[in-house]
Amino acid sequence: MADHISTLAVHGGEEKSKPYGAVTMPIIQTSTYAFPNTEEVLKFVGMKESGGPLPRDEYGRYSNPTQSVVERKLAALDDGERALLFASGMNAITTTLLALLSSGDHLVMINDCYHRTRDFAMEFLKRWNISVTLVPSGRLDALDQAVRPNTRLIFAESPTNPYLRVVDIDGLVEIARRHRLLTFMDTTFATPVNLRPIKLGVDLVMHSATKYLGGHNDLLAGVVIGSQRILADIEKMRGMLGGMSNPNDAYLLLRGLKTLDLRVRRQNENGLRVAEFLEKHPAIERVHYPGLPSHPDHETARRQMTGFGGVVSFEVKGDFDRTARFIDRIRLPYMGPTLGGVESIIQQVSAFFSLDPVKRKAAGFKDNLVRYALGIEDADDLIKDLDQALLGS
Ligand SMILES: Cc1ncc(COP(=O)(O)O)c(C=O)c1O
Repeated sequence: MADHISTLAVHGGEEKSKPYGAVTMPIIQTSTYAFPNTEEVLKFVGMKESGGPLPRDEYGRYSNPTQSVVERKLAALDDGERALLFASGMNAITTTLLALLSSGDHLVMINDCYHRTRDFAMEFLKRWNISVTLVPSGRLDALDQAVRPNTRLIFAESPTNPYLRVVDIDGLVEIARRHRLLTFMDTTFATPVNLRPIKLGVDLVMHSATKYLGGHNDLLAGVVIGSQRILADIEKMRGMLGGMSNPNDAYLLLRGLKTLDLRVRRQNENGLRVAEFLEKHPAIERVHYPGLPSHPDHETARRQMTGFGGVVSFEVKGDFDRTARFIDRIRLPYMGPTLGGVESIIQQVSAFFSLDPVKRKAAGFKDNLVRYALGIEDADDLIKDLDQALLGS
């Protein structure tokens, strides 16, 4: 019916006819679903056992009608056969890794990724005899060499948090196919507006829907998108670990998604304007933004993305304290973790990570590194605010 993201964001996954003639899908606030008689129960259980698509809901840990509409919309936005919604992005990542990997397997991971994802692999997967090799971003040769006979999966994030490195997806998929490996990508920073990796051959895509997909800093959710064949085991694991999203957050996500294209386009514009301003500013040492020709992955980003996103990371000239003074002078954004909402949010990455400079360095977070997640405010106002904060710091 429609291939354009803005149309899919509004109509994708939605039935025209909803309960009570409502235009918006209602929140179905229930934890369980009643059956009219035993015959219906047996029919349902038979369908479940045959592995076919289920015609109705049974229990809230497995599905909910509000959440099912969101899943269908998210699958449509990312060109997937199906999507599974989770209580958070981390829940989506951990449940998927636990469902797909077994003791004795090996995982290859691009090391510049959200640090909790990396910590889960290094701390817990290893504990369960799943070995992990971290490879630097931008080094497909290292990725190829890291593959072993027991490698099962490649995990990558693009663009990465916080250095905005962009993975060459064509190269990654070529390696995975040659070695018959599954590919799993976190494209939270890109959103389907800027990047659709399933079209490029990636098996599974995930997002922290807490960020751009929800878009209003008011919900926690995660999603994994892919083929029904691969998602079947992940769905089973979700039902056991219990990380299902709740109907209220599913509704907020559904509502947020309808404006995804508008919001992300504005955030792309703000990202580029702010990155260009910062790169010319004498108080700034370095800017990390894939839309700038100075970024090491600029050409890859231009080839595979349709926008460069709303997060700009940069290094202030000076030490931890000078950077903190700058952050404390800035007025418009909130200071905190997360990104992707309509309100701009800024953070000195190392300050949020640890009090211990040694730990910060080991995690790769420079003391003067700032991550600025731009909202949908006017770029001129954002730049004016940055300018006054940098002059006074
Ligand atoms: C790239 C990326 N992936 C995953 C996550 C985890 O998502 P959530 O906070 O929804 O669990 C985050 C959170 O910051 C993130 O930035």
